[in-house]
Amino acid sequence: MKKRIYLSPPNMGGEEKKYIDSAFASNWIAPIGTNIDLFEEKVANYLGGNFKVTALNSGTSAIHLGLKLLNVQKQDEVLVQSHTHVASVNPVLYLGATPVFIDSESETGNICPDFLEEAIKDRIKKGKKPKAIITVDLYGMPYKANEIKKLSKYYGIPVLEDAAEALGSFYNDQPCGTLGDIGVISFNGNKILTTSAGGVLITNKLEQKEKALYWANQSKEDLPYYEHKEEGYNYRMSNICAGIGCGQMEVLEERIKQKQAVNQFYQSIFKNHSELILQQPINKNFKSNFWVSNIFFKKDAKTNPEQLRLHLESFNIESRRFWKPMHLQPLFNNFPYYGNQVSENLFNKGLCLPSGSNQNLADQEVIKLAIDRFFNLKL
Ligand SMILES: Cc1ncc(COP(=O)(O)O)c(C=O)c1O
Repeated sequence: MKKRIYLSPPNMGGEEKKYIDSAFASNWIAPIGTNIDLFEEKVANYLGGNFKVTALNSGTSAIHLGLKLLNVQKQDEVLVQSHTHVASVNPVLYLGATPVFIDSESETGNICPDFLEEAIKDRIKKGKKPKAIITVDLYGMPYKANEIKKLSKYYGIPVLEDAAEALGSFYNDQPCGTLGDIGVISFNGNKILTTSAGGVLITNKLEQKEKALYWANQSKEDLPYYEHKEEGYNYRMSNICAGIGCGQMEVLEERIKQKQAVNQFYQSIFKNHSELILQQPINKNFKSNFWVSNIFFKKDAKTNPEQLRLHLESFNIESRRFWKPMHLQPLFNNFPYYGNQVSENLFNKGLCLPSGSNQNLADQEVIKLAIDRFFNLKL
């Protein structure tokens, strides 16, 4: 059996065990402990500014609590980028609110300011001002944050930035995760850094961090016995997972460089390719962490992403179709959508290529051979 080449596998730096050992030594095998404090500090230092970071057990939990901080309630409407992973939207349902889906623009693949404004105006006309906007830095590519911020300010609707995939990406030199009013980064196993499972919530208000911690700890009142006035959740990160995160934060710059090198490898394969375009940032203001490198099949291409995916699979290489837009999901097909098939086209034409930061030259030889064979067979 050939070695499997994964899309974006975990890549340990080596120091993670040191932090885990310290948790064992202190017996803080719990969702409390010094690794959690240190991990939060390391992420906050990386983001710069005065950001407050709360470590939770997933990015999804962080989106849920972030929406609660923005006071999203039952029957509210939340504007969400349609081209995304389902976890951007599920927390809207947890709160009994209604997602309103917004199409992408084709330059970054993220939320389109024009469709967003159309939706805001129409929802207001229909009698309901949306409560929040969820933007996404998909595949590590920053969204058009200036344009979205302008709309957010003008209409008075706050932004929750789902930067789950974008630790290490920047827009106008500002780190992704800090571009909205609330930010979220995931540390799930396939992300650029991992805590095995985990996420962080980012705000610049101490009272918001305190409220998130309260909810994440079952909304337990500060009393010598267990008293609860509000619905709560068991969402805190474990001290063991945070230990992995502490070690991982030490290698973030290295991981970003490795992801860039993977992208350069694909640039060398696909330059001047007749059927494909490799996604690149539109200008210097957009700095992607290249969490995954993506290709688009041109309009008149004789092949398609699914054929290439299956072909790569026959070499035991994992690639992945683009996220199927949320407005096309059976789960969400009764919810409003504003757009013009841009995200649908991205889904039909896009493929995420294996982008592991631990990809070596031998892996790249296999990938190149597989891709060359595919196009020689098909052309
Ligand atoms: C865009 C996006 N949002 C949210 C999430 C949820 O993060 P988690 O898996 O940590 O819950 C993910 C990934 O898993 C994601 O890719």
